[in-house]
Amino acid sequence: MIVAIDGPSGTGKSSTSKAVAARLGLSYLDTGAQYRAMTWWMLANGVDVQDPAAVADASGKPVVTSGTDPLHPQISVDGTDVSGPIRSQEVTAAVSAVSAVPEVRARMVDFQRRTAAAAPAGIVVEGRDIGTTVLPAATVKIFLTASAEVRAARRSGELNGAVSVAATREALIRRDAADSGRTTSPLAKADDAVEVDTSELTLDEVVDRIVALVEQRR
Ligand code: C5P
Repeated sequence: MIVAIDGPSGTGKSSTSKAVAARLGLSYLDTGAQYRAMTWWMLANGVDVQDPAAVADASGKPVVTSGTDPLHPQISVDGTDVSGPIRSQEVTAAVSAVSAVPEVRARMVDFQRRTAAAAPAGIVVEGRDIGTTVLPAATVKIFLTASAEVRAARRSGELNGAVSVAATREALIRRDAADSGRTTSPLAKADDAVEVDTSELTLDEVVDRIVALVEQRR
């Protein structure tokens, strides 16, 4: 059982994916956290993240590992837990440039496929290109959307209002444009994905809907 959950930033992918995995007894993989971990390492080691050749050269150095327990998702670089630092604004602002580099994607996608294949009962994998590129044979594919206003309000709320809704909206739109416009496996809805607009739904409603879809295919 492989459940692919894709969509732009702030649509509730992480909360939804973790809850779906926990409800169904499946493993969980946050691929965005992996690109963030790679980006965190690049920034910490003085790599110019706007230079694709420098990023490509350095991409083989850090060892990124992800836990797959939906109740305790954990991400490490070279054995150090970076779950907190990868959510910083610096990392968020730089991650689209790093994730657009084909060498970075090749490494991550290989790891993601191996992780999915090794999951004992199955796995929920969240990202941008899971249904289209990473796991195109996934059993269930979901594409989450929400209006820019709702997404910005959610993200600003997660940051306890430290960044205004307007500034958050700008940053989200910029990141989505970069993620959708890149050449290698851009953010895209797979033709056979079910689109769920979460703007007017609670988390529980979204989770119920996806769990029902999975149960139908079990
Ligand atoms: O989901 P999250 O916001 O943590 O993802 C951070 C970034 O990682 C995205 O903006 C995108 O640049 C990159 N990403 C990606 N492919 C994925 C998951 C995330 O390029 N499958």
